[in-house]
Amino acid sequence: MIESLRISCFHLSLTIFLLVLLHVSYALVTSDSVYDTFLHCLQKHTNESDQVSNIIYAQTNANYSTVLRNYIRNARFNTSSTRKPLLIVTPSLESQVGATVVCSQTIGIQLRIRSGGHDFEGISYVSYNAPFIILDMFNFKSITVDTDDESVWVQVGATLGELYYSIWEKSKVHGFPAGVCSTVGVGGHISGGGYGTMMRKFGLTIDNVLDAKIVDVNGNVLDRKSMGEDLFWAIRGGGGASFGVVLSYKLKLVPVPETVSVFSFETILDRNTMTTDIVYRWQEVAPNIDNALFMRLHLKPVNSMVRKREKTIIASIMALYLGKAKQLISLLEEEFPELDLKKNDCTEMSWIDSVLWWNGFAVGTSPHALLNRNLNSAGFLKRKSDYIQKLISKDGLEWVFKKMIESGKTGLALSPYGGRMSQISASETPFPHRAGNLYKIEYSVNWEEEGEEAEKNYITQIRRLYSYMTPFVSKNPRSAFLNYRDLDIGISSNDENSYEDGKVYGLKYFNDNFYRLVKVKTAVDPHNFFRNEQSIPTLPK
Ligand SMILES: Cc1cc2nc3c(=O)[nH]c(=O)nc-3n(C[C@H](O)[C@H](O)[C@H](O)COP(=O)(O)OP(=O)(O)OC[C@H]3O[C@@H](n4cnc5c(N)ncnc54)[C@H](O)[C@@H]3O)c2cc1C
Ligand SMILES: *[C@@H]1O[C@H](CO)[C@@H](O)[C@H](O)[C@H]1NC(C)=O
Ligand SMILES: *[C@@H]1O[C@H](CO)[C@@H](O)[C@H](O)[C@H]1NC(C)=O
Ligand SMILES: *[C@@H]1O[C@H](CO)[C@@H](O)[C@H](O)[C@H]1NC(C)=O
Repeated sequence: MIESLRISCFHLSLTIFLLVLLHVSYALVTSDSVYDTFLHCLQKHTNESDQVSNIIYAQTNANYSTVLRNYIRNARFNTSSTRKPLLIVTPSLESQVGATVVCSQTIGIQLRIRSGGHDFEGISYVSYNAPFIILDMFNFKSITVDTDDESVWVQVGATLGELYYSIWEKSKVHGFPAGVCSTVGVGGHISGGGYGTMMRKFGLTIDNVLDAKIVDVNGNVLDRKSMGEDLFWAIRGGGGASFGVVLSYKLKLVPVPETVSVFSFETILDRNTMTTDIVYRWQEVAPNIDNALFMRLHLKPVNSMVRKREKTIIASIMALYLGKAKQLISLLEEEFPELDLKKNDCTEMSWIDSVLWWNGFAVGTSPHALLNRNLNSAGFLKRKSDYIQKLISKDGLEWVFKKMIESGKTGLALSPYGGRMSQISASETPFPHRAGNLYKIEYSVNWEEEGEEAEKNYITQIRRLYSYMTPFVSKNPRSAFLNYRDLDIGISSNDENSYEDGKVYGLKYFNDNFYRLVKVKTAVDPHNFFRNEQSIPTLPK
């Protein structure tokens, strides 16, 4: 199970031998002419004119492929047939970001904004239907921690690992409630409503944002005061890419105890007759127990050791408790005796060590490991998401296990809500999945075989399992989590039907908050420059 986490975070793809044929199917715009026009425009709009040629990579630049691949995090979008950007712009100054936004409009080519590149459908660096430029924010990585003010300014190109590390350097009793995987970028993660192992205690990342800086469609830099509360609301969960280029967020640090505790627990269906009961009980306990405890449950098909050539299900729990092991044990003895956990099963450690533990590092690994960006490494993967609002019965669970085994190797990660998540109203931020949701399901399938055939098979199996889950999950709409980007739930071609298209996926990601997002979008970007396959549309004319 630790192994499976590692796979999602640091999966190195097998060496792939591919003919790299860079080709752009739009013959109208050649990369060279775009380069010249764009460079001139950028020089006109910046003061550092002698420098800007260093921040633009045309397809003919020897380093173009390296820069493009560094933050590709899904090998599905690292093939010869994947549409490539005409240019990659890698600014390190705010004025260069503003100029990039202005100049892309001048030459009429859309932008893709990339921070950490972890978008599951690659839409920060791929456009499915039109030529584009990547605005790559990896140089924006400064992090300024202020322990007196208990806050931190973090730029969007920083990774979560760098954020955690910087906080730890300054204080051993502060942390931040963001995602698990250390290489995820701040820009996409926070603008998309990121969550992590402390969400039951402190809510989501977006519930702990104090201020932000953004470049708007006119190239101006705005902060919370100058952007106004509507736009500030939208970029806390509505996705940044529909509204502008987020430069940085100011976050409120949260207190963490000097000692936290972690444990993992496993049970295998065909070896432990209690397995279904434990999973059933987890549904009741995990979203309701003390909010200092986060227990994520993973379900995965594995080879049976009892019956040769058959599969079974392994259910495993990984948990973080913001307190000492002794308290954790007495809490579990009372509320989840089925786990039969003993003090020896729990490990006490510092909060930063728990971050490393969740990332799959061995106990004792130096926090420096969190600074490794693991450039240019990715496996093939597909993700989907669902919300559970009613307990799945034991019969239901057994049916799900059967279908998982039938489907192949798609796993499910169940993250319990409740606690702080239920106290925040559904309209406080664009992220609407609050009270009433017991847990979120992440469907995940990873593979190593290259080629369209393999991709088709794995994507078919994850979709099939998703379809089997229909009776158990949220309805009208069947909700989804923006940060688990899934183009299956609807896409927009950003034409005259964009509002109707946008409503399809928009209601799933945002419920009724979709309508407010459309209003904000219409006000700040009326011509829909900031667009992608799942962006917020403007109001129909
Ligand atoms: C291994 C792995 C583990 C993950 N674990 C978690 C987890 O624990 N919790 C969780 O909530 N999510 C998790 N995610 C999902 C992750 O939060 C999202 O994929 C997130 O959007 C990634 O942010 P990014 O900056 O790395 O991605 P990017 O691909 O760079 O961006 C994602 C989206 O945001 C837009 N965007 C990026 N930067 C900006 C910006 N500066 N301004 C405006 N728009 C911008 C992009 O255009 C794109 O639409 C995980 C993903 C992976 C691959
Ligand atoms: C360039 O510098 C001048 C003077 O410092 C300033 O007024 C102007 O706004 C700057 N322009 C840009 C595009 O940064
Ligand atoms: C490519 O990158 C290398 C090392 O980072 C650098 O020395 C070289 O000048 C770059 N080449 C171009 C064409 O940018
Ligand atoms: C992309 O593919 C090339 C080979 O074509 C490989 O060298 C590189 O490591 C791959 N990168 C990612 C992020 O998949």
